[in-house]
Amino acid sequence: MKYFSFIILIVAVIFVQQSVAQSIYLDELDLSAMECGWGTPEANKSVEGNPLIIAGQKFEHGVGTHAVSTFLLNLDGKGKRFTAFVGVDDEVVPEKASIQFYVVGDKKVLWESGVMKKPDAAKKVDVDISGVKLLGLLVTDAGDWIDYDHADWCDAKIELTENIPLADIVVKTKVEPYILTPKPSDLPKINGANVFGVRPGNPFLYTIAATGKRPMTFSAENLPDGLSLDGATGIITGKIIKEGEYKVTLSAKNVFGNARRELRIKVGSQISLTPPMGWNSWNCWACSVDDAKVRASADAMVSSGLINHGWTYINIDDCWEIKPDAKEPELQGELRDKNGMINTNKKFPDMKALADIVHSKGLKIGIYSGPGPLTCAGFTASYQYELQDAQRYADWGIDYLKYDWCSYSKIAKDRSLPELKKPYQVMRDALSKVPRDIVYSLCQYGMGNVWEWGEEVGGNCWRTTGDITDTWSSMSGIGFNQSGHEKFAGPGHWNDPDMLVVGLVGWGPQLHPSNLTPDEQYTHISLWSLLCSPLLIGADMSRLDDFTLNLLTNDEVIEINQDPLGIQARRIFNEDGKQIWMKEMEDGSKAVGLFYPDLSDKKEPASYFSWGEKKSAKTILKGTDIGISGKFKVRDVWRQKDIGVFENQFETEVPYHGVVLLKVVKKH
Ligand code: GLA
Repeated sequence: MKYFSFIILIVAVIFVQQSVAQSIYLDELDLSAMECGWGTPEANKSVEGNPLIIAGQKFEHGVGTHAVSTFLLNLDGKGKRFTAFVGVDDEVVPEKASIQFYVVGDKKVLWESGVMKKPDAAKKVDVDISGVKLLGLLVTDAGDWIDYDHADWCDAKIELTENIPLADIVVKTKVEPYILTPKPSDLPKINGANVFGVRPGNPFLYTIAATGKRPMTFSAENLPDGLSLDGATGIITGKIIKEGEYKVTLSAKNVFGNARRELRIKVGSQISLTPPMGWNSWNCWACSVDDAKVRASADAMVSSGLINHGWTYINIDDCWEIKPDAKEPELQGELRDKNGMINTNKKFPDMKALADIVHSKGLKIGIYSGPGPLTCAGFTASYQYELQDAQRYADWGIDYLKYDWCSYSKIAKDRSLPELKKPYQVMRDALSKVPRDIVYSLCQYGMGNVWEWGEEVGGNCWRTTGDITDTWSSMSGIGFNQSGHEKFAGPGHWNDPDMLVVGLVGWGPQLHPSNLTPDEQYTHISLWSLLCSPLLIGADMSRLDDFTLNLLTNDEVIEINQDPLGIQARRIFNEDGKQIWMKEMEDGSKAVGLFYPDLSDKKEPASYFSWGEKKSAKTILKGTDIGISGKFKVRDVWRQKDIGVFENQFETEVPYHGVVLLKVVKKH
């Protein structure tokens, strides 16, 4: 009898264990492996951190995400049922969002929602998942753009037949960062732009970018009258009065040797002869930027060694001005002084002193405003004070102005071309009146095909898109859409597909590592370099990790961006999810990016997932497609390594969402 009760007890325990342990809520899982097209997935909250609500129905449990979103779960055949309520979160504006949910089991679609919009009622999901090994949860943008696509998986629950430890369920498809670029050697080597434009009589500042063991001494032959070089720092300053082209030979010397390189200084009307390279505060700090963070960024530009690769600008974005009606005391004050000169807020106690510090390091400093009365973040902007502002910037020693449309939408009568151009021309005229070279960066998100007239209104660069975020859909959507803009770029006037989202980003004060995978980051930097895009690092400069530094310090990649011809890459192949972009270089070689972005709209739901396999695509580069017949030499630019000599074509595997960046030259 005793023995019998014991068996009953064991059976009961097993039964209780099974019936208790087998339900897992989606929000209990590690969401860091869930891909999310904007923001970060949230447990028991919407993607913007609000309660989960679909068409007025509130849910306690669930996951808020954003299209395109994927989540791959390893159920090992132990699944029973998957249940949930899905829909667009109420936090978005009606009619803007359109999304589609899928439940995919071992590459087969088990359930799909059809297109869902706000205010559709939540749809119930109830799917038999018995035997499924890998379960994929997918939200697509339903074939249009991802804007406003806030998607909720509410009360999402997986019933299992057997226990699986929570930690084993989530398939981590994220690849660890891998470094391709060798460290610079101890030998001196001069890097960065080898052509530099300056206007006659304006202050000149150029720092010789050189890698190699310190101490290093610098010298220059044929330096034009009016310039002097600090031999210990490599900083050249002064003023050149006479227009013309000056060929200077720079040298950098250390105990290991002496490097020499020619620098062409062009004194005339054009500046920004190569795309600007530097840092901008927005993608990391947004409105939490202050004087200390800008100083720290300038310090880090030097201590990280980035300055030795040609990185130059330290640009303050929005939020340095007084904010009318601000609640925060540090943002309050008189907008302008009695002469109409703009004031800074208390986070920037002395802009001139800050500019001096930045210049003393051989770097340049940028600032932000807009043609409307207010900036995008609601701070004082330049409307009707353009001349005073240009004057103020020159007095402070500002070298770069990002000029952001935003509240000018209330001033403009309509969106006709004359109305779009007008405010940019007004500030151009103001900047031209001050004795300082200020890079003029138009920011109006591409309205009226700004690339067609940005140069005409005197822009040195113009944003071609809305704001970038650190997600694959944002970065790839922007980058791979630049095809066709190439004819509008050239020395002094560049298309700007927005700033870099590598390293620690987050629109501050809280930061997170970029959501782009390592391969996506290689794609980002390769594509932006091929596109002759301004390269503005959006990261916390004081905490750059080795991987991010490797992305930003490969001189052969930078050379592609800074090539003096300034010919923007064009797309020469776009099939089967693969793309090839080619850029003509001054030395007669071709820079070629082989990409595998897999962007096709009509993708099968199963193809959004890796299914635990490492995907890559065989890609063929034909010599004739890049204008080379016969034999050609191929160099892997990220690895800085010659691959070999090929005839007619070159074939390689390109990682999923990744790139193989090449330099190809005809073999004679
Ligand atoms: C706009 C711009 C961004 C940034 C913010 C600042 O959104 O596109 O790059 O400058 O304004 O408020």
